[in-house]
Amino acid sequence: MDIEAEKIHRLEMGEIPFYEPGLSELVQEGMAAGRLSFTTDVSRSTTAEIVFLAVGTPSAEDGSADLTFLESASRSLVPHLSPSAVVVTKSTVPVGTGEKVAAWCEIDDARVFSNPEFLREGSAVSDFLYPDRIVIGIPASSFARREGGFEDGAVDTLVKVYIGIDAPRILISRPSAELAKYAANTMLAMRLSLMNEFATIADAAGADILDIERVLASDPRIGSKFLRAGAGFGGSCFPKDVLSLATTARHIGYDPKLIAPIIQVNHEQAERFVKKIEERLVGISGKRFAVWGLAFNRNTDDIRESPAVRIMHLLLDRGAVITVYDPSAMKHARAEFGEGVMYADSVEGTLTDAEVLLVLTEWPEFCEVNWKDVLARLKIPLVFDGKNFLPHEAIVTAGGEVMGMGVWKKPSARS
Ligand code: UDX
Repeated sequence: MDIEAEKIHRLEMGEIPFYEPGLSELVQEGMAAGRLSFTTDVSRSTTAEIVFLAVGTPSAEDGSADLTFLESASRSLVPHLSPSAVVVTKSTVPVGTGEKVAAWCEIDDARVFSNPEFLREGSAVSDFLYPDRIVIGIPASSFARREGGFEDGAVDTLVKVYIGIDAPRILISRPSAELAKYAANTMLAMRLSLMNEFATIADAAGADILDIERVLASDPRIGSKFLRAGAGFGGSCFPKDVLSLATTARHIGYDPKLIAPIIQVNHEQAERFVKKIEERLVGISGKRFAVWGLAFNRNTDDIRESPAVRIMHLLLDRGAVITVYDPSAMKHARAEFGEGVMYADSVEGTLTDAEVLLVLTEWPEFCEVNWKDVLARLKIPLVFDGKNFLPHEAIVTAGGEVMGMGVWKKPSARS
């Protein structure tokens, strides 16, 4: 159910409003089997055993999560919930929101659960079907019953939803589940900002951040994922969730020391990337850039908080001339930059008259090009890798130079 009639209409026609690999097939399969339908009519909730609340919780002006949509969705359910229905918050919400949801829905607190999702845009379907864990946050009264060995129908209703999905179930208190979602995103964002700080130090010291990553990744205490430095992270979750957690902390009287700078470091990372380009090219004004990638992540058309957008604006402010291509975000690119840049419909199309190449999203297909051909079409055989993910050795072997964040590879004098 959604209040946007247009969105529901398009879904009924089998159109997914955004690009997410595998989602269209899954939706069509569900519709064909009669297990999935769409509506704007909230009264259809009357027959539901479970209602998932999955509305957006964007940043309010003070950095806290704006719960307006959650409140109105909850309130709209009031006359329509069956007496035994369970309400589950999927939206990322500040710790303590479950109590508010119960009050807004006018139901007993024991029927409101938290069930945060850990899906990444671009791999959301497989993250859902093969999750690392399923977290279920249980209201205090049910928690006490369970601890006492009593059965609880409401808990079991929710647990049953995930039958068939092979992953550990983590049943914890509702506030813990609410906070755990923020803790997970903040931990990951922190890792990235820390790696980005290491990259800046590596640049200044002549070290290579990819070597440092290998050393860190081989330590099981650290783990190998989410260590890739670059020109900053983006998306609709990390920046807003980190900000929201810092604001929650302040509301409860604790001034967080580590959390707030995560966003500051990330913000400055795009500026550092542009400064690097400016220094290497001795100025940006009038220079022509080929840009590959605008989405904040591979396999998505989402450009919200994308470092690529910020970098392009910084370059345009300095007088750059840009031709951009992204495999799926071109519609959003046009809406963002209008006449301000030129658009290509392939990677090759960006190269006409380009001086250098900037790669700003880690789309796998950007690695698979013929580097000799690409470099031959650039005025300077120079690639700025904003995600540190390109095959640097292949580019160097083809006679090119690569600058990433914390990494700089040049052909040797002989090649
Ligand atoms: C994130 C969380 O991963 C997910 O669990 C949560 O549910 C929502 O927020 P998402 O923002 O969709 O997911 O994508 P993610 O793959 O986490 O990427 C976020 C940003 O970090 C992207 O800009 C990505 O390019 C960047 N990133 C990721 C890096 O810069 N380096 C890495 O090593 C990994």
